[in-house]
Amino acid sequence: MSQKPTIELKPNGPLLIKNLETLENSKGERLATETIIALCRCGGSGNKPFCDGTHKKIGFSDERLTQENDEKKKSAVEGVEARNPTVTVTRNGPYEVVGAIELAGQSFAGAHYFLCRCGGSKNKPFCDGTHSKIGFKDDNN
Ligand code: FES
Repeated sequence: MSQKPTIELKPNGPLLIKNLETLENSKGERLATETIIALCRCGGSGNKPFCDGTHKKIGFSDERLTQENDEKKKSAVEGVEARNPTVTVTRNGPYEVVGAIELAGQSFAGAHYFLCRCGGSKNKPFCDGTHSKIGFKDDNN
């Protein structure tokens, strides 16, 4: 996969990630990727981090209820643009995206950002810390 990876938000559904070479979980395990993968962002999949269609059954809405300043999401971490494009499934938390992966259709562009995967953020697609408040759990990752 030599094309640049991109992340697309499926309306009221998963993240569609194209051309991602490195997907890993909080245990440091590499997860299998294909040219296109669908990662759960409703929090309900039985096959996390991948989408299993549960978002439809639970009526997941990706409506953005607050509009936080996107500048706050930009990382102060030096050199993160130069890192290999990687998505990390953090422990009971969001997807951490490094390596300047384009977030299609969003005005935001950053080298390092966090995307909600618990389904509860009021600032979707970004994490706002709600996973801690609601006790989001993903023991497998
Ligand atoms: S987004 Fe599809 S199962 Fe969660």
